[in-house]
Order: sequence, then C-alpha cells, then structure tokens
Amino acid sequence: MANERTFSIIKPDATKLGVVGKIIARFESEGLRICAVKKIHMSKRVAEGFYAVHAGRPFFDELTDFMSSGPCVVMVLEGDNAISENRRIMGATNPDDADEGTLRKLYGAHIGNNAVHGSDAPETAAVEIAYFFAGTELH
Ligand code: CMP
Repeated sequence: MANERTFSIIKPDATKLGVVGKIIARFESEGLRICAVKKIHMSKRVAEGFYAVHAGRPFFDELTDFMSSGPCVVMVLEGDNAISENRRIMGATNPDDADEGTLRKLYGAHIGNNAVHGSDAPETAAVEIAYFFAGTELH
C-alpha cells in the first residue's frame, strides 16, 4: 500500500448544511490524516482556474458559479492509498449513483451540488494541492 496525499474540498452546499465537522471526522475515522485544512471563499476566477480541465464543458459555468457561491473547506489528506480511499468514502460523482453511507449519498443533492471533491490521480492531486497550499503549510 502506498502512503500518499490527496486534495479534498468540502463544497459550499456541505458547509451551508453544517456538516464540515462530520465530514472531517469521517475522513479521520477511516484512517486519513489531515495534513492541511483551511476555509476559503473562492472567487469565480479562482474556481475557473481550479476546474480549468472542464473549461468548455456544458456544466462549467454552473460549476464555477456554485463553487464561488459560498465558503468551502479545502484540505490535504494523507494515508495509505489516500486517493482511492477518499474516492471510496465520497462515492460516485452523481449522488443518485453513490452507494449508501458515502458522503455524496449522505450530503449531496445532485451532480452539480455533490458536497465534496477529491483528486482522481496522483498527478491531479499534486496540481490541486499546489493550487491552494504552499509546501510549508503541509504538516
Ligand atoms: P467534482 O468531483 O468536483 O469535479 C467536477 C464537478 O463538475 C463534479 O464534481 C460535479 O459536481 C460537476 N458536474 C456538474 N455537472 C456535471 C456533469 N454533467 N458531469 C460531470 N460533472 C459534473
């Protein structure tokens, strides 16, 4: 098993729902360690930069409006197979398809408002972590 780091966002719908503590506790109870955490409110431009890989997709404007609509909590999680473990805990992108007990099933409303984001691969994790955190902020 590889010890690795991944990037996580608790999205504006979940911060509004008041489940930040529950989500962080879930990650910790599943063996993921919080290396870094902060609450931010992205501008539309910052959200567009973060999701640049989706620029041009039909949902891009709605996605970046949503991600800049309220505060988020951004985090770096560390643990054995942290990328796939985080994705397992989150569940499928669309809450309708997510397994029972996953964060997106518990707290997501639909594919646009799906409570959490997590990196999908080591390369994207590195880019996403560096977008929000300096190396000196990871402990
Ligand atoms: P996330 O894991 O943050 O990565 C991109 C986001 O785009 C995704 O979660 C969804 O919330 C959002 N999204 C909105 N519509 C779609 C769609 N049709 N297909 C994929 N992602 C979508």
